[in-house]
Amino acid sequence: MLKDEELIELAMEARRAAHAPYSNFSVGAAILASDGRVFTGCNIENSTYSLSICAERVAIFKAVSEGARELVKIAVVADTENLTPPCGCCRQMIWEFAGNDTEVILANLNGDAHKFDIRELIPQPFDARFLEGVR
Ligand code: THU
Repeated sequence: MLKDEELIELAMEARRAAHAPYSNFSVGAAILASDGRVFTGCNIENSTYSLSICAERVAIFKAVSEGARELVKIAVVADTENLTPPCGCCRQMIWEFAGNDTEVILANLNGDAHKFDIRELIPQPFDARFLEGVR
């Protein structure tokens, strides 16, 4: 299996393509899917600020649109001393396509890294199970 360090390196590379002229905050993400493929993404901002999208979701959209439905792990890289975590929206998106033990690896450019289980990052998730319980 692809090592965490390799996934972090791919997220770092993806970060270089970030389009972040408004925040100057560049983020890269790399996903290892259960079929062994890797998908990367960067944040893409827009002059209409609210259209901007995070690196994690770009990577997820690429994975899902190419037929990968299960995320084994995702690395997120930004240039911050305190490791940058996914926003709430991205946590929900990761959960939608998470497997049993999906890992979220946060890293920065100094070589610091920390790994979380997605359940730690979104402890009370809304998901398809609630839709089955509609009354
Ligand atoms: N951003 C991400 O791409 N991922 C994160 O985990 C946090 C925030 C982006 C969104 C926006 O383009 C910029 O960082 C500042 O919020």
